[in-house]
Amino acid sequence: MYILHVTAECFPIAKVGGLADVVGALPKYQESAGFTSKVIMPFYEKKFVQTHVPINYTTGNLLLGIDEYYYEILEYSKEILGFELYLVKIFGLTDKENVYGYPYDTERFTAFQKVVADFILTQEVKPEIIHCHDHHTGLIPFFTAHCYKYNDLKTIPTVLTIHNAQYQGWFGFEKMNYLPEFPVEKKGLLDWKGQINPLATAIKCAWRITTVSPNYLGELQEKANGLEELLKQEAEKSLGILNGIDDVVWNPKKDKFLKSNFDRRSILKRNGNKEWLCETFDFDPNLPLVSFIGRFVHEKGSDLLPDVIRYIFDELKLNVNLLILGSGDGNTERDLNDIKPFYKENYNNYIGYNEELAHIVYGGTDFLLMPSRVEPCGLNQLYAMRYGAIPIVSNVGGLKDTVIDFDENTKGSGIVCFDISVHEIGFAIKRAVDVFENTSFYKKKRLEIMSINSGWKKSAAQYIKLYQSLTLNILP
Ligand code: GLC
Repeated sequence: MYILHVTAECFPIAKVGGLADVVGALPKYQESAGFTSKVIMPFYEKKFVQTHVPINYTTGNLLLGIDEYYYEILEYSKEILGFELYLVKIFGLTDKENVYGYPYDTERFTAFQKVVADFILTQEVKPEIIHCHDHHTGLIPFFTAHCYKYNDLKTIPTVLTIHNAQYQGWFGFEKMNYLPEFPVEKKGLLDWKGQINPLATAIKCAWRITTVSPNYLGELQEKANGLEELLKQEAEKSLGILNGIDDVVWNPKKDKFLKSNFDRRSILKRNGNKEWLCETFDFDPNLPLVSFIGRFVHEKGSDLLPDVIRYIFDELKLNVNLLILGSGDGNTERDLNDIKPFYKENYNNYIGYNEELAHIVYGGTDFLLMPSRVEPCGLNQLYAMRYGAIPIVSNVGGLKDTVIDFDENTKGSGIVCFDISVHEIGFAIKRAVDVFENTSFYKKKRLEIMSINSGWKKSAAQYIKLYQSLTLNILP
């Protein structure tokens, strides 16, 4: 079977969030299970393209409304990443450095999707499954099902994986002329509440929908940024499949970013990473270290962090160190910096994106804090557990599927915060300090969570089952 993944991000080529990690790993596991799995994504002017040479490239022209664009599709051999890769370089649109954030993102991603559909049309060996990820690729199931030009692709099953339903790629009907021609009665498939909504379109048109955790699927039917009713309607073709982690990239024994490599048997060496962190961020290494890693967006609960810091140090007077690594919302960044001088000994931050530092934090922190309001799957808690850091998480989305509270169950794997408020997060950090002080329990739990298997094997098999149900056309 040949599966083509269509995505905006893929690690290590371009990463903004967990989407990249998933699309960088899943195809590798599908390849090693004997399938052909390829990735097609936009080109970005990043390190990967400067350091790798394509084995082939094709060119073409594309019409978007009245504007014509020239494009190249660069092909990279399977040897580099473990799967074949195509980068779509549309001059003037996808020859930029950043993944998102241009005023013409609608044009960039619409053009990209048209090139992808054209590319599939001209491929001699066509994919048997087109697997789309998030809204940036959500128009493709509509193109293949309803646009005249792609009539030959009608029979190829399409799968949409929702990594995050908050973003939907909305744009106005005045840009409908960007799309390939289709019968006028199909216009409603593009529409959600008066706008073209690529995520809604994909939910309507894809043959199957998956979410990145089972719990998130249920949550979306209650809260999906306006798409709840649609997701309820399409429940029958939807399925939650928990993400795995790339256990080759995320292996504390071999991770080249770590200051000190370790595994369960050499757990004492883990201290080398904590010591490095404490020295770098000026902390007392004898105190428990709690860290946050992530984008500063409302979904991740990062706006609460400045008040949490005040609360745990001024009111609860906890003996703990707090390290924050991330960037995003300007107010959060400013507040987090402004309060630094008041809590010099116990709180520090790194404002920015730093993959290398993130690895050291997983490998050195005692606890990882994720007070997310929305978390479709969450990978950080899985990385943390593999690296022996106890997760402190809210009770949402994939966090609920992957972290069991210590109190609830003797097999518990972390500290669950059942309400997302400054007070409850503060209380959860207090519980973490208590756990840390109960040394034998802390050490036992640390070893336990490191042995949890969060690799891709199980989830990759679920995807394969799903694909097979499609080629046989039976509901999952
Ligand atoms: C998004 C979600 C995150 C998920 C990731 C990969 O970044 O916010 O929860 O783990 O996609 O699916």
